[in-house]
Amino acid sequence: MTTIDRDFIAGLTLTEKASLVIGHDFWFTAQVSHVRPMMMTDGPSGLRKQSAGADALGINDSVKAVAFPTSALTACSFDESLLHQLGEQLGIAARAEDLGVLLGPGVNIKRSPLAGRNFEYFSEDPLVAGKLATAYVNGVQSQGVGVSVKHFAANNRENERFTSSSNIDERTLREIYLSQFERIVKEAHPATIMCSYNKLNGVQVSNNQRLLTDILRNEWGFDGLVMSDWGAVVDHVAAIKAGLDLEMPGKGQASIDEIVTAVKEGRLQESRLDIAVERVLKMVEKWQPATDQVQDYDKEAQHRFARQVADESIVLLKNDQQELPLHPNQETVAMIGELAAQPRYQGGGSSHVNAVRVVTPLDAKPTNVTYVQGYSLADDDSDAALFDQAIAAATASDRVIIFAGYPEEMESEGFDKTAMCLPENQNQLIMAVANVNPHVTVVLQNGSAVEMPWVNDVQAVVETYLAGEAVGEATWDILTGKVNPSGKLAETFPIKVSDNPTALSFNQDQTNENYHEGLFVGYRYYDKKHLPVLFPFGHGLSYTDFTYDHLEIKAGPDTVTVSFNVTNTGHVAGKETAQLYIGNQTSPVEMPLKELRDFAKVALEPGQAQTVTMVLPRRSFAWYNSTTGTWEADNGEYLVMVGSSSRDIRLQKSFNLTIGTDQLAKITGETYVHEIWQTGNQRIEEALQQSGLDQKLAALLGHGSDAIFANIPLRSLGMAGITNDQIQRFIRLVND
Ligand code: GLC
Repeated sequence: MTTIDRDFIAGLTLTEKASLVIGHDFWFTAQVSHVRPMMMTDGPSGLRKQSAGADALGINDSVKAVAFPTSALTACSFDESLLHQLGEQLGIAARAEDLGVLLGPGVNIKRSPLAGRNFEYFSEDPLVAGKLATAYVNGVQSQGVGVSVKHFAANNRENERFTSSSNIDERTLREIYLSQFERIVKEAHPATIMCSYNKLNGVQVSNNQRLLTDILRNEWGFDGLVMSDWGAVVDHVAAIKAGLDLEMPGKGQASIDEIVTAVKEGRLQESRLDIAVERVLKMVEKWQPATDQVQDYDKEAQHRFARQVADESIVLLKNDQQELPLHPNQETVAMIGELAAQPRYQGGGSSHVNAVRVVTPLDAKPTNVTYVQGYSLADDDSDAALFDQAIAAATASDRVIIFAGYPEEMESEGFDKTAMCLPENQNQLIMAVANVNPHVTVVLQNGSAVEMPWVNDVQAVVETYLAGEAVGEATWDILTGKVNPSGKLAETFPIKVSDNPTALSFNQDQTNENYHEGLFVGYRYYDKKHLPVLFPFGHGLSYTDFTYDHLEIKAGPDTVTVSFNVTNTGHVAGKETAQLYIGNQTSPVEMPLKELRDFAKVALEPGQAQTVTMVLPRRSFAWYNSTTGTWEADNGEYLVMVGSSSRDIRLQKSFNLTIGTDQLAKITGETYVHEIWQTGNQRIEEALQQSGLDQKLAALLGHGSDAIFANIPLRSLGMAGITNDQIQRFIRLVND
């Protein structure tokens, strides 16, 4: 086969080159010379390969494929190995269907609980999104199928997504909205990145040189291809110059003519076009399947794996008086809610899958469990007959399971939610049933956080999110204790939507989305505000109990090692995700109270203990200094916290960091005394000693006047009897 090299590209006509940088159609790259067109298609939680009638929004039918749980649920597994396996299975399906690139995963941060595509994304926290998506990408690509990590970047709302400008300060952009992409690029080397529809700080992302080239390629070293989201390109010539390589799906001949004319008129260097052409051809050469034969693959095995993924991810949010697990052979159980028969198991839009075999909770119910519809999904109004039937069933049963959730037609790609509440007929029924039976469990099917006005009226709440086609089997696996739940929330559930900081700005402006909350997204906000929440980030219960002890912290030459023990003190085997948070007590900038810096899921038999060791690189202590354009880790005090959730901290210890980036800010007369006093920084200590300022300051501080003198700048020490010569000598010494 002719290799793709500069000579080959030089031999192409201008028209052939132009045809290569746009889609041949919705899903294929162009046919040029011997290069066979390569197919790419969705989606993140199952294959959406349209056999005919292509569209980007899941309207036309696609081939049968297993619908796996969506990322909102798989993120709750906190299990990198599981996500790698999920990626492998998706890669197997894609390869069998003759695909070169799978358009996923979606890794945008869940900034607002109202965002329509939260079901398709992992978390409010970039570490969770970054680590789990890295595992997923490695899994898919291990099968010889490329991915397209999306949507780069800051595509955190659906309304006016083609034009709205995400306005974000640089530090927030780097620390919250880009860092998961950075991790995936550096650790998984994805085949492609998909640029998003929106603008970033007023500049269309598809034309955004700073994002697509300066940061993505020059800083992070990305060497794959950048494609557009479908229809995201506004100015293709400008986009190519900015670093976009492939316009999808493209505008056919019009796009080709536009590029050819631009080159002929000198508005686009042919050498610049050649770079994009080379990247397209390299992508096709690397990821194009060897043959175009579609093969079969074991869809039943994938269905069983979809069940396992849901089993490992479902979150037990509440379980008062050990309401769960059920023992349906020893007690009567009423199962209420049309969602048991018509479950929500996947999201709407381009990720929609033509599922192989949906097993509903009704299909999978144990024999002596009775079912009543309870409410109609068709509307929000209560149906009196259904309502009365449900109350009668609840009254006559030992225990009740109510299936509730957010309606499919109100949560999808393409538009945002306007509320977080469940339909009123469901809320009313839950409260009425709780009045007649003291043993009520609510099972939720929703793409993102919901309000629960009845949470104090029921004994147990199980969060299944959108659990894929094996939703019924997995739900009963958890309810009956066949599987001990081990999921943890990857997003906070606020008590009400107005508690979320984005409530002030989200979708308030048609052309601008202003990220006023900055770093304070999700738990970073609620914790800083000491705000009560319905269920915190990282929360998830088990049918067993775990204790933590023996926290140890050791500093190495360029890492910090944290170790601790986790013990299963209960009577059944279980899995616990231990979470490590760091609280920066040192850096003189805005800072969340705590930030997740690592997590580990451990499987423990009853009575078994395991030592968990986490090695933190310097970056785990760093913040992005947008003035210097560097990740800065300041030496000084940090709080190391280990817990079962962000609000269930079991171990904590103060720790003095010594491996920080020695980026000592230049000392000037504006520097405050507290910035140079007892910092532990060797350079400062030596300069204080050599200038004699240490004795002068020691005489000033420590006699109850610390706060006053510690909080004045060096230039003002004259009023405390310290000569300017001495101050200037210290400043010279420390800066040299
Ligand atoms: C859609 C989505 C994107 C998807 C693409 C192709 O509009 O934003 O995630 O991969 O178009 O369907």
